[in-house]
Amino acid sequence: MGKVPVITIDGLSGAGKGTISKMLCIELGWNILDSGALYRTLTYLIEEKEIDVNSFLKNKDDLIKDFEVTFQIGSVGEPVSVFLKDTDITNLVRTEEIAEKTSALSSLKVIRDFIRPCQRAFKQPPGLIADGRDMGTVIFPEADLKIYLTASLEERAKRREIQLKRLGTKVNMRILLDELEARDKKDIERDLSPLKPAEDSFVIDTTGLCPEEVLEKIKVLYRSLK
Ligand code: DC
Repeated sequence: MGKVPVITIDGLSGAGKGTISKMLCIELGWNILDSGALYRTLTYLIEEKEIDVNSFLKNKDDLIKDFEVTFQIGSVGEPVSVFLKDTDITNLVRTEEIAEKTSALSSLKVIRDFIRPCQRAFKQPPGLIADGRDMGTVIFPEADLKIYLTASLEERAKRREIQLKRLGTKVNMRILLDELEARDKKDIERDLSPLKPAEDSFVIDTTGLCPEEVLEKIKVLYRSLK
């Protein structure tokens, strides 16, 4: 197998990672890894199976058997669909409740150790767009291009509101802002794989930019590497 190119898109919740990753996948015809959705799915499975995280290692083999996750890109404007085996669980995992629980679980070493090889397995020809928090820093340090997206808290909350409303979820903006801020803090301050730009990443502030403008910046960067 020849070299499989990887572009990593890391950043805060609501900075535009999902939208941009999807647009890049469509444009380049590459595979997608929505690593946040992978963590959310593991959280969902742990809940479904009523597994106590303190005895996670004892249940590891049972979990591996069932942790078969695939993504379907779908259309622009919709979040990537998440499948657990043959079941579409998109609406079950893209909730604020699962996001909260995932934020706590994803700070545990056993959880990150479990998910790491699953993430790397997505690196398949013709290429991979890896969307997450530690894609460029930890999972794919060899990536060809590393992007780190930021945006103001208010703009990110507005974007999340639109996504949640589309999924039919009622949204209280004040609560959403507080939750986003708390989750940012947890993701940035945790000991394991804290959210930070890789030293060799390009930081793009997407506040006030439309997705097409962000995509164009990334395409220019990718072309300049060739
Ligand atoms: O991007 P998201 O909201 O779907 O991510 C859900 C949670 O998963 C978020 O709180 C941080 C965690 N996460 C992580 O720790 N590492 C990643 N690579 C992706 C997500």
